[in-house]
Amino acid sequence: MFTDRALVLVSRMVCAGCEVARPFDELLSFSCDRRGQDDVDHVLRTELGDEAVLAGWPQTAVNRHDNAFLRYRKLSYTWHLATARGFTDAEYIDIVEDLARKLVAVDGRAPTITPLLDSEELSTRIKNETVNVSGSHKARHLIGTALHLEIADRLGANTSETTLAIASCGNAALAAAVVAKAAGRRLRVFIPPNASPAVVKQLASLGAERVICERQDSDPPGDPCYLRFVEAVAAGALPFSCQGGDNALALIGGQTLGWELVEQCQSNPPSDVFVQVGGGALASSVMQAFQMAKSSAIIDRLPRFHAVQTENAHPLVRAWQRMGELGKTWSEARSHRSEFMWPWESEPKSIAGGILDDETYDWLSIVTGLQASGGDATTVTEAQLEAAHKLAIETTGIQVCATGTAGFAGLQAARARKALSGEARPVVLFTGAIR
Ligand SMILES: Cc1ncc(COP(=O)(O)O)c(C=O)c1O
Ligand SMILES: [Zn+2]
Repeated sequence: MFTDRALVLVSRMVCAGCEVARPFDELLSFSCDRRGQDDVDHVLRTELGDEAVLAGWPQTAVNRHDNAFLRYRKLSYTWHLATARGFTDAEYIDIVEDLARKLVAVDGRAPTITPLLDSEELSTRIKNETVNVSGSHKARHLIGTALHLEIADRLGANTSETTLAIASCGNAALAAAVVAKAAGRRLRVFIPPNASPAVVKQLASLGAERVICERQDSDPPGDPCYLRFVEAVAAGALPFSCQGGDNALALIGGQTLGWELVEQCQSNPPSDVFVQVGGGALASSVMQAFQMAKSSAIIDRLPRFHAVQTENAHPLVRAWQRMGELGKTWSEARSHRSEFMWPWESEPKSIAGGILDDETYDWLSIVTGLQASGGDATTVTEAQLEAAHKLAIETTGIQVCATGTAGFAGLQAARARKALSGEARPVVLFTGAIR
């Protein structure tokens, strides 16, 4: 039985909704047991003490070719779990490097530090995730999960033959297929009947099993792919998804994007960071990294975070506005989830198809970050999305998709409203490549 008290103090998984921590001897903390039992928003987050953040902060200058999962390993819950359970740092490094080699073999790309470009013309700093493994930031969530599974297996979790599951037909599915293949694990992807043939073909060539999900008469409201995913997980599959509520381990890898930004902006911290929000794991993990950096005094203050959704589906903005109307803080709202967050009623369409999730699963962490930073949640129109996408490609030459420039559309809209707070160039994330 695991009894190391150091881990108790340094890093743990805690439910942001009910504040109950996961047991210290648990190897796979995907979600809170109380999820779905009441109106509390149960979603796990990692806690890491300020001293551990300072001790784990990289001491060398950031190098573009560094492996992000090595550079920030000591800031991850996975590393703290592994080393508290007897792994040496060198053994951990071997595991990360081994997975990186396998990712290169499958995808041709390694998990490096993605570039932060300074665009004079757009007056913006751009974090270019289109060059990441599988062509989007989603790989971060799943590389982190795969590393955690590998550590857990070596500690006796015995999951290597268990099927992994995800509901997606876009960047998350592709990233899952690449990472699962590299990690030598079986993956089942739940996709809608109208999934893009190009994506389906790529999934097949990566060896992922595809399950087409028609709506069943007996189905409750909600996405049938997600319903089948939940059933698969209930039947024993492991959630290999990019949503914090189902797979809290996804947030660990997502945080590397935040750590990179903190380091890359250290000499000139941004006043504003714009993040496009679908399910919400991207924004919540980036904000969590910044909040840990602030708490441990690595940075003096948080940038103002701006969560951006499309006018055609904006469950987070709706929740944010409702909280504003009722004067609620995140800690008051978290035990009344259904008053703030419910599935978008109509089936929305947008050129930013990657952020059409009918619920913002990670909304609680996001509104926490928005309130802590004095930020906001706003919508953009289809015309604004299209204009920003076109301008981004023409100006930078980056072959980014329209979901990938949705945060930039939010920045342009904020500029038009004269709603920007500071002098330093704002940051946007170009999150995915055109498929
Ligand atoms: C390119 C791209 N950017 C951003 C997002 C939004 O991420 P999240 O669902 O974590 O909010 C997605 C999600 O599919 C995406 O594909
Ligand atoms: Zn809980």
